[in-house]
Amino acid sequence: MPHDTHRQVSIALGDRSYDISIDAGLLSLGSAWQGLPRAATALIVTNDTVGPLYAADLQRSLAAHYPKVLTLSLPDGEAYKTWETLQSIFDVLLQNACDRKTVLFALGGGVVGDITGFAAACYMRGVPFVQVPTTLLAQVDSSVGGKTAINHPIGKNMIGAFYQPERVVCDLHTLQSLPARELSAGLAEVIKYGPIADMAFFDWIETNLDALLQRDPQALAYAVQRSCEIKAHVVGQDERESGLRAILNFGHTFGHAIEAGLGFGEWLHGEAVGCGMVMAAQLSHRLGLVDAAFTERLTALIVRAGLPTVGPDLGSEAYLHHMRVDKKAEAGDIRFVLIDPPGTAVVRGAPDALVAEVVQACCR
Ligand code: NAD
Ligand code: GLY
Repeated sequence: MPHDTHRQVSIALGDRSYDISIDAGLLSLGSAWQGLPRAATALIVTNDTVGPLYAADLQRSLAAHYPKVLTLSLPDGEAYKTWETLQSIFDVLLQNACDRKTVLFALGGGVVGDITGFAAACYMRGVPFVQVPTTLLAQVDSSVGGKTAINHPIGKNMIGAFYQPERVVCDLHTLQSLPARELSAGLAEVIKYGPIADMAFFDWIETNLDALLQRDPQALAYAVQRSCEIKAHVVGQDERESGLRAILNFGHTFGHAIEAGLGFGEWLHGEAVGCGMVMAAQLSHRLGLVDAAFTERLTALIVRAGLPTVGPDLGSEAYLHHMRVDKKAEAGDIRFVLIDPPGTAVVRGAPDALVAEVVQACCR
């Protein structure tokens, strides 16, 4: 009998289809780990913050399915999403003579998920992996859809692969230990799904934001489920981002400029996305695509989620410069995800002068 926080979302990608399991307590629930590829060895990749909290639970569950379960703890932080860290995963795999059936388990936030997924894509030309996301951002976004990557000193997430996991297991219980700032950052990605795809979900977030901030398991279960359903629907149509998938980057173009302009790590990614959504909504309004009431409503929700809505004053030239190296830019032309009307996103350019107006209006 499923309990009331139990949810399941499927992502349809032909022979690469998989399920996202959502519930409180899945790390210790034997059935959550049944039916995965069999192997002599499983490797849990986690980090120095998440490992001490949750790796033992996962290790115990996996021991029922794999003769050998290894754990590798990476240093915590975006700064370690590098070649050197990737190499340390390969070192452990090779030192333990891990074969091409070895299953990797990414236990952590988006950093651990992205780097472990990329390691799985590369090791012996590809081994199975399972996402076990422990941040809200990772449960609603980064663990779903198969984007894996490491950073290059010149650009974030520039070296990577599309490589889908075997399964995503979201244990809602892990969100109870998440720092408040990280919870808010994850809420930015939850809020994102409303304007781009589902204004009824936006209404629901407005009504239930306090419960989400209090980490109510029921509210979290629905927020993760609906976010994953929307992302699964988009990725199912455009896995490799030849078009539609770009709408998932609402707020990310301005957000990327904030992150790059301030230096990565100054603001959390979700904080930059929250502020970036306000700026993208303002741009949509100045282009006549949405009314002022929508931008005010979105801004109010982002404030309530504990996210910044005023951007750093980098100057409009710096914003434009950083946005031109965004992955969505085509031959230097910036592509924005805009709202037209609320509940639908479009990807298009905008005159530099209008973008500069938005920067001036939104940054101090
Ligand atoms: P993160 O992985 O750095 O985690 C944030 C912090 O929370 C870390 O200090 C982490 O150790 C800690 N933490 C994680 N789970 C915890 C828990 N349950 N309790 C206590 N502390 C916990 O950051 P993130 O926001 O999860 O992910 C950001 C990364 O995700 C970026 O590298 C970004 O590029 C990537 N990303 C990828 C995609 C994708 O589609 N692949 C999408 C969005 C973001
Ligand atoms: N986070 C955006 C994407 O997965 O496409």
